[in-house]
Amino acid sequence: MQGTRVAYPRRWWRPSCPRHDRSAGDDRLGRHPRRPVHRQEHPVSTESTPGTAGPAKIRLRHLQLAKQQGRPFSMLTAYDQFSAQAFEAAGVEVLLVGDSVGTTVLGHTSTTSTTHQDMLTFTGAVARSVTRPLVVADLAFGTYESGPAEALRHGVELVRAGAEAVKLEGGAEITAQVRALVDAGIPVLGHLGFTPQSVNSLSGHRIQGRDEASARKLREDALALQAAGASAIVLELVPAAVAAEVTAALDVPTIGIGAGPRCDGQVLVWQDMAGLSGFRGKFVKAFADLRGQLEQAAREYRAEVGERAYPGPEHSFD
Ligand code: KIV
Repeated sequence: MQGTRVAYPRRWWRPSCPRHDRSAGDDRLGRHPRRPVHRQEHPVSTESTPGTAGPAKIRLRHLQLAKQQGRPFSMLTAYDQFSAQAFEAAGVEVLLVGDSVGTTVLGHTSTTSTTHQDMLTFTGAVARSVTRPLVVADLAFGTYESGPAEALRHGVELVRAGAEAVKLEGGAEITAQVRALVDAGIPVLGHLGFTPQSVNSLSGHRIQGRDEASARKLREDALALQAAGASAIVLELVPAAVAAEVTAALDVPTIGIGAGPRCDGQVLVWQDMAGLSGFRGKFVKAFADLRGQLEQAAREYRAEVGERAYPGPEHSFD
């Protein structure tokens, strides 16, 4: 085999779809050569909104329009090329490169261990792999709490890596950071309710906003984030009625995770959604059994290797 050129199927190194063929077209269009050109915006289709067929690039204004029209949109976490492309093909409107990459990919037990460098790496991977969904990246724990300058510095780096908006956790106490980012042209998503980066001070994964005082605080924080320029707000582990009330009180969309059906959009960690993580929180629905399928595939692979059934002649070179 030495010296023989192996003809891998194209998809192993470059998706066969011409829109992802980075060897052609990009330079002629004057685009960044590493960024796949998927579809160009169309004067009409730019007005397409989530949930409709059409080639539009999803922008924040489409999420705003979806809220106004009462049409829910979906967001999934994404951290790598093939899963991001699968979600794009499925029409998922927003991909969140969440700091949950630390707990779903990197083996940490808390998102507080996810670093800014992790976020840059995985944001780049997702942003280079898709074109239609809006790509949102989390500001990692420790990169924005100390003030607007730090938030801006790290936000700029995430945008340079390919993020089209950034998300940060917290309420009224981080509005200066939100303003600094928005003033610099970086769209911001807020994150209220259970905020995983504060898991230690919140004493674990607990529903937030259950009593009147904390529900009022959640509403006030949401309004403060909106006033500071946030384009959308994630609500995590919040009673459905409270989330519905906050959603009605805001002009900007809410995106719920464990926050009931009345939010304007929904988000899940993709490995939970697809049954890979095995996490079965009450708010999670596993739409597939990827864990089972993957285990079964690996079991069959191992058995066939053990029996010398694989590789067969059809997988071998003359
Ligand atoms: O990092 C993440 O996955 C998130 C979602 C839980 C919203 O922030």
